[in-house]
Amino acid sequence: MSFERLAPHYLRLERILAGEVLQRCRTAFLEETRTARRALLLGEGPGRFLVELVRVNPRVQVTVIDCSPRMLAVARQRIGLRDRARVRFEVRDLLSSWVPEPGAYDLIGTHCVLDCFRPGQLEVLIRKVARGGAPSARWLITDFCEPAAGWRRLHGRLVLWLMYRVFRILTRLPATRLTPPDPYLKSAGFHLASRRLAYRDLVHADLWVRVSG
Ligand SMILES: C[S@@+](CC[C@H](N)C(=O)[O-])C[C@H]1O[C@@H](n2cnc3c(N)ncnc32)[C@H](O)[C@@H]1O
Repeated sequence: MSFERLAPHYLRLERILAGEVLQRCRTAFLEETRTARRALLLGEGPGRFLVELVRVNPRVQVTVIDCSPRMLAVARQRIGLRDRARVRFEVRDLLSSWVPEPGAYDLIGTHCVLDCFRPGQLEVLIRKVARGGAPSARWLITDFCEPAAGWRRLHGRLVLWLMYRVFRILTRLPATRLTPPDPYLKSAGFHLASRRLAYRDLVHADLWVRVSG
């Protein structure tokens, strides 16, 4: 998979196609990040969440992982010089031998990335990422979802079908359809503390918290 071709246009494309909907979802639980000390942002792309995180939390140390060097270059440019010392950027494939430092992170952020993976990949990835979470870790997620019923469901299915076709052509995305991450997050020891739906219930912003004990 490669988002390299899309990287220079990604921010503009998002503004045209989704306005500020996705950014409102990424930052829906920003208040919850103010006390975080170590954050792990996966598939962070051009860094729209990262910029807000380092703005509201002047102490947090951040590790940003993405397999696209051009996406990370955009993200690096978007944060101020002063903040660059506390953000580590790593070009890595999450599906390969990458593993997080065990129990190290009290904040995990995966925005618009879990929907890139097939069910088996997602299950393995979530289990792996969860091992990096501290005992009371919070995990913020923005993703697409299928609306529950009615015309929204029909509309949602059509949009998702189209989106996966286009993204598979542009990026060679492994997923052919959306896989809800909820069961994998639950079995990795997280519980859904809050969920907000947006854009005709087609996008969700989640706060998951590690269940201790
Ligand atoms: C749809 S973009 C989302 C970018 C950003 N997080 C956002 O909220 O818009 C998916 C991002 O995940 C990255 N990505 C996808 N699969 C990956 C993998 N296996 N390993 C690392 N990064 C990956 C892509 O390079 C891209 O930057």
